[in-house]
Amino acid sequence: MDFLSKACESMGFEVMIDPVGNFRAKLKGSDPGAPPIMCGSHIDTVLYGGKLDGAAGVVAALEALTVIKEQNVPIRHSLEFIAFVEEEGASFRGGLIGSKALVGKYTVEDLKNLTNDEGLSFYEASKNFGLNPDELEDYVLRKGDVKALLELHIEQGNVLYTKSIPLGIVEAIVGIKQLAVTLTGKANHAGTTPMNLRRDALVGASNIISFVEHCAKHEAFDTTVATVGKIWCFPNVTNVIPGKVTFTIDIRDIKTEGIQRVEQLIKEEVKRISDERGLQYSVNLVGESDPVKLSEKVVSIIQRVAEKLNVNFLRMNSGAGHDSALLTEVTDVGMIFVPSIEGISHAPEEDTEYEDLKTGCDVLLNALVDLAQ
Ligand code: GLV
Ligand code: MN
Ligand code: MN
Repeated sequence: MDFLSKACESMGFEVMIDPVGNFRAKLKGSDPGAPPIMCGSHIDTVLYGGKLDGAAGVVAALEALTVIKEQNVPIRHSLEFIAFVEEEGASFRGGLIGSKALVGKYTVEDLKNLTNDEGLSFYEASKNFGLNPDELEDYVLRKGDVKALLELHIEQGNVLYTKSIPLGIVEAIVGIKQLAVTLTGKANHAGTTPMNLRRDALVGASNIISFVEHCAKHEAFDTTVATVGKIWCFPNVTNVIPGKVTFTIDIRDIKTEGIQRVEQLIKEEVKRISDERGLQYSVNLVGESDPVKLSEKVVSIIQRVAEKLNVNFLRMNSGAGHDSALLTEVTDVGMIFVPSIEGISHAPEEDTEYEDLKTGCDVLLNALVDLAQ
């Protein structure tokens, strides 16, 4: 935040941090009545992640606005840089929190109920940071407030890299459903409890986890994926039978039916395995976003720019979730992908060739100028 504040203020951009921590900075256009064009990505990152997920789009947007300002490029619409907060959900469950708040998906009460693993609420965390989450309502975007939003992001998959194409133009973003499953059995002595008298929550969980993989692979579409990425085992002691286990399930698809089918089958299997093993269970929704199509108007502008700059491109879908998906509720959204080396992301090796980042920035800059005139 300090870096962004300094960088933006030194360029004369008007800086504002909204009540949930989205960082925004405005470069004024010539027509004060014309709705601004937003550009940016997210400022947070995933635990044990790489250097580009989110950051590439933040730096690219900052650079684009800086070039426009330094070269006095005439713009009618203001340009608004945005660095979204808590996209990944690394601290607060569900993720996409800054963008959800910005489009009115949270009440102040929701922010009080949204807690991290230590029990601190998003509301309190915002206050501790010096923000005033009670003012959230005043900052919610409505249709017409913003003309368009552009986000540059690394692809995070291997489509562009394998085909040696430097640019992806995103047409649609997957839907995501995240669940938390809790199984409760009975913690007991690992040496004295015979195998037929156990209610081991972790063994039940392991059967369900295997089913999650099977289900996404064989019971839905080619585009459906599902992952168990986080697990808590209690009491997590070598010589105690696990009495309680909670784990998350992340289900994604570009088709809503794929997500619905996998969710339904998993819920049936949780019940079946729990009944068979004498476990109690609960399945709670952690977060969800629908599959969305991006604006054909903005996609065409990006494509026109790519053609003008002689950049080979591919129209494609995004398997990762993005704040941009939420913003489609209030404005025209476009996304630019740059290739991820070996398709690796959410891992420390995440990287993109410098030339590809530069190409992505050039396309972003030109598309912004086109939109702003
Ligand atoms: C964010 O990167 C997500 O797709 O979960
Ligand atoms: Mn990510
Ligand atoms: Mn991201």
